[in-house]
Amino acid sequence: MSLKKELVDEIIKVTSMAAISCHKFIGKNDKVNADKAATDTMRNEINKLKFNGKVVIGEGELDEAPMLFIGEKLGLGGDLEIDIAVDPVEGTNFVAKNLPGALSVISVAEKGNLFNAPETYMDKLAVSNKVPFDATDLDFPIEKNIKNTADSLNKDITDITVCLLNRSRHKEIIDKLNKMKVNMKLISDGDVSGALMVTNDKYNVDIFLGIGGGPEGVLAASAIDAYGCKFQGRFIFDNEKDIFRAKKMGIKDLKKKYDLSEIIKGDSIFSATGITSGDLVKGINVQNDKYITETLVTHKSSKMCKIFTREDTIKT
Ligand code: FBP
Repeated sequence: MSLKKELVDEIIKVTSMAAISCHKFIGKNDKVNADKAATDTMRNEINKLKFNGKVVIGEGELDEAPMLFIGEKLGLGGDLEIDIAVDPVEGTNFVAKNLPGALSVISVAEKGNLFNAPETYMDKLAVSNKVPFDATDLDFPIEKNIKNTADSLNKDITDITVCLLNRSRHKEIIDKLNKMKVNMKLISDGDVSGALMVTNDKYNVDIFLGIGGGPEGVLAASAIDAYGCKFQGRFIFDNEKDIFRAKKMGIKDLKKKYDLSEIIKGDSIFSATGITSGDLVKGINVQNDKYITETLVTHKSSKMCKIFTREDTIKT
């Protein structure tokens, strides 16, 4: 079964309204309240929709998050059963510091089709759909992934661009990339956007890799699902608490490498609205009482991948 097109518009509205609600926190150095505003609004908006929804990726577990917690039931009810992955603000630092690239993000799929990921780190790899599936792998040495990508794209290694989070945990990778004279796009936050950069030549990124949040990994996989790009992820469970949680969630093989097709199945809708302007979409543009938003939206079954502009008038 596929998700109806009307749901696409409804989901765009959810991320647009969530983005708008944290506009007043841009540059206010207040990550917590920016996230709270977007979370409250996102929850209210989802609750207006006619489906039986369940949060599978959210703001945390019930004991950590009062809203949009994992397992929370949302929506007005009905026959349609939906799994929902949310990140009301992807890049809370970007909003707090008025930096480019903050997004409000949702992904939906039918019940049972979206991976229920624990709140741990994940080792990730995303590659352009122009590179054959078998040419890259999380288990290959970095040099092999770069060389195979370069060969597949008919480029020199020095013309390949790799996007990764600028973190000390990536020092070894960065040193190797430097040695190979590969171009790097080092991002300070926001690795859902990072993964999305492999979807189109205009972003000039061939590979996205490195360790970031597990929930963001699931969102990244759903973001690139409709583009036919490659995504692989492996959760990192390095303490007792995370191992306990993983087992509670039914994960038996803690070292398993997940392909995109195991993270998201069937039809999907992904929606990311810009809060501050970035590479993917423009941020919120306020004109008198109007809020103009840009949303990157995908709907797998209708092969839709586009940027959608909305205009909303909000009474304050
Ligand atoms: P938040 O918006 O929740 O702050 O996450 C931003 C982010 O950069 C993610 O995109 C990324 O997956 C994660 O944080 C990386 O975590 P860390 O900052 O611990 O390296």
